[in-house]
Amino acid sequence: MRISVIGCGYLGAVHAAAMAKIGHDVVGIDVDRAKIGALSEGRAPFYEPGLDELLAEATESGRLRFSTDMADAADARLHFVAVGTPQAPGGNAADLTYVDAAVASLIPVLAEGSLVVGKSTVPVGTAARLAAWIADAAPGSALAWNPEFLREGFAVEDTISPDRLVYGLPDDPDAATEARGLLDEVYAAAVERGTPVVVSDYATAELVKTAANAFLATKISFINAMAEIAEATGADVTRLADAIGHDARIGRRFLNAGVGFGGGCLPKDIRAFTARAEELGRGDSVAFLKEVDAINLRRRQRLVDLVVEELGGSVYERNVAVLGLAFKPDSDDVRDSPALDVAVRLLGLGANVLATDPQAVANARLRHPQLFYVPSPRNALVDADAVVIVTEWREYRELDPIAVREMVRNPVVIDGRNCLDADAWRAAGWTYRGLGRP
Ligand code: UGA
Repeated sequence: MRISVIGCGYLGAVHAAAMAKIGHDVVGIDVDRAKIGALSEGRAPFYEPGLDELLAEATESGRLRFSTDMADAADARLHFVAVGTPQAPGGNAADLTYVDAAVASLIPVLAEGSLVVGKSTVPVGTAARLAAWIADAAPGSALAWNPEFLREGFAVEDTISPDRLVYGLPDDPDAATEARGLLDEVYAAAVERGTPVVVSDYATAELVKTAANAFLATKISFINAMAEIAEATGADVTRLADAIGHDARIGRRFLNAGVGFGGGCLPKDIRAFTARAEELGRGDSVAFLKEVDAINLRRRQRLVDLVVEELGGSVYERNVAVLGLAFKPDSDDVRDSPALDVAVRLLGLGANVLATDPQAVANARLRHPQLFYVPSPRNALVDADAVVIVTEWREYRELDPIAVREMVRNPVVIDGRNCLDADAWRAAGWTYRGLGRP
């Protein structure tokens, strides 16, 4: 099928390449010339495992091209809208400027019988508004809402083999049948493999995405709240998570206590959900998400406090190695990254912060040029008074405590992700502190 993908960021670029891989003829459109330039050369404009290979394969096949000109989307039957919906400046609501701009520029090129497919995370009610707009301005076209659940770091895998597909369809039965047919066709490979397809109205489809991220954020803040209680009682939150996680109804995944969640999705999505619920007069229903947010943000300060405590009450002029800047491993994304936030807070307290990350230094430097960045952990570790692990990259998890002991000035490690073997580090002579661990 001929398809277009509007917006070539973390979501759209992967979606475009994955759709080409499964056999569709794809054009990716973005207003950012640098991004389109890189993608056209088969280079991912951000770090995502497997994406470079996928782009190279798809561009070579001739089924994938990129453009800044919306006219190049004109012959597509299906148009995926995958632009960002960041937090609006000065508030909690989602900023829909990019979604509206994408639809506005799509409308003039929409051919009779084409389908616009929303993938961006939007406040409930957006799809109905956009559908009315399209019905008015391009009456031969329709809208479906098809949220995306990919995780950065696993984006290629999640896009090619999703664990479910959600189709939010128009109310009109004929339009719904037509839209469903097109979606089944574009996702034929996954549908034939038996991927569950949940069909719903627009509002449900929009809410599925918001609810999923709200649940995940709540799960993380739940275990971080238990970490706070563990800290007051001498209990170990990682053992607690292991034990409750054995209950299949609870499950161990997403129960890792630490410095909390960040990224371009969970933080802004729970805030946008709260803002939207308040608009709907249902603020009470999700008021707990404010607590989820507050617990999450508290953990960053707790980590900083631990560093201060271990350095005898002040980090002023002390060398602090900050390992990790990305909001999670296998990503170069520093949007709302707890790691970067911790580095900046320590700098604000007068520490000599030496920050590093395998992929995210360039993005971190753009946001916080005042931090001192070093290319490798070794540069950060030499003469460190404290080592802080804030993103659990494999290469940090696998650091040898005995070898690292030789590099630092003061063997104190603060494990912001509870990802190190505390016993092994202590045995090597380190003072080990985790979050929610004795
Ligand atoms: C999240 C969701 O997991 C995806 O399903 C969703 O599609 C995506 O948002 C989105 O809305 O686009 P992502 O932001 O890539 O995906 O990252 P996650 O794997 O969810 O991690 C989010 C944050 O939670 C990270 O900072 C991570 O370190 C933290 N986390 C995760 C914890 O602190 N503890 C855990 O147990 C798990």
